[in-house]
Amino acid sequence: MPAQPIHPPHRLLMGPGPITADPRVLRAMSAALVGQYDPAMTAYMAETQQLYREVFRTGNDATLLVDGTSRAGIEAALVSLITPGDRVLVPVFGRFGHLLREIAERCGAEVHVIEREWGEVFPPDEVIAALDRVRPKLLALVHGDTSTTVAQPLADIGAACRERDVLFYTDVTASLGGNVFEADAWGVDAATAGLQKCLAGPSGSSPITLSPRAVEVIRARTSIEAGLREADSPVSAHPIRSNYFDLGQILEYWGPKRLNHHTEATSMLYAARECARLLVEEGMDAAVARHELHGAAMAAGLEGLGLRLFGDQQHRMNNVIGVFIPAGVDGEAVRGGLLTDYAIEIGTSFGPLHGRIWRIGVMGYNARRDAVLTTLAALEQVLRQAGVPVPHGGGVAAAQARYAVAA
Ligand SMILES: Cc1ncc(COP(=O)(O)O)c(C=O)c1O
Repeated sequence: MPAQPIHPPHRLLMGPGPITADPRVLRAMSAALVGQYDPAMTAYMAETQQLYREVFRTGNDATLLVDGTSRAGIEAALVSLITPGDRVLVPVFGRFGHLLREIAERCGAEVHVIEREWGEVFPPDEVIAALDRVRPKLLALVHGDTSTTVAQPLADIGAACRERDVLFYTDVTASLGGNVFEADAWGVDAATAGLQKCLAGPSGSSPITLSPRAVEVIRARTSIEAGLREADSPVSAHPIRSNYFDLGQILEYWGPKRLNHHTEATSMLYAARECARLLVEEGMDAAVARHELHGAAMAAGLEGLGLRLFGDQQHRMNNVIGVFIPAGVDGEAVRGGLLTDYAIEIGTSFGPLHGRIWRIGVMGYNARRDAVLTTLAALEQVLRQAGVPVPHGGGVAAAQARYAVAA
């Protein structure tokens, strides 16, 4: 039988990402392609840069997109900032800290790790003490670790890095747009994100911002590839160890020279631009407040169903809620019931939390009252079917009560 046209089932994606994309973003992606040096395209690129400066809250000129999923942005930042042999400090409090460690090791760094149990964050003093002990060139620290649902406080860490001449990289894939993030005010040198969480888009583009300090480090290693090189082009003895993720060359591509590198993923650029445009139109503070409200309503609703929340609630991300699977319940069967009968997806978990918690995302396009209430109503039914004595209407009532307080 010949392959049929793509016709995915309807789903409400309430997991830790990807989430249901905003239809306006999907519409932007279907716009006609233009050539990569078409004035329309270069204007869209410049607009995208300006929009992401607002999203990251930065004046950094070097604010652009890395093509690929969020991990592409992480790799680009780390491979471009780390010269083999550099000392790097990675505080790990979940899966994505382990990812930073792994990528930094592959970049040839001497990696030093400090660890916290999943569900906790580091008191900032602990990170600062480790900076003094390790004296790294780079601190690589996740902001919101989706695997554990908590967000590391970053506000004081950037200043400590500046005082010690340490570069500060952070992964804000899960947190950006739904939680306060201030690249400049917090002294962040490099931050990378993705579209598929609070930015309400599909995965496949990684916004990045780089401080002048970070750009200086990268420029010192920039090597323009043979075939494009001119007499005055830089050629480094220690070039960045990836061509595709060479931020030196990518900066030249996005900069006034428009030096050819990859072919920009046009439809993803349209998506990324629309994601940022929608956030800026809403207002960053309003977007964060929306995530806080709907995340709090979901958390209240889960407790209203008699479930116990996971992790340090003082530091929970606004947009992802971890909840313990009740004793004796098959977590995967409940997820399956939600998907089959209600077309709702919630998340499983990794590593030490596997089989212990579900993760429920309330973010981007789905940070909405109807999405929260529908999920709670469906979860109540599936839990009851699984033999859990859930209070009738307890989830929806508790969420509604939370909304009433905010009204
Ligand atoms: C905090 C964080 N960092 C990195 C990633 C990797 O993102 P991607 O799968 O888009 O490469 C994720 C994905 O969930 C994430 O939550």
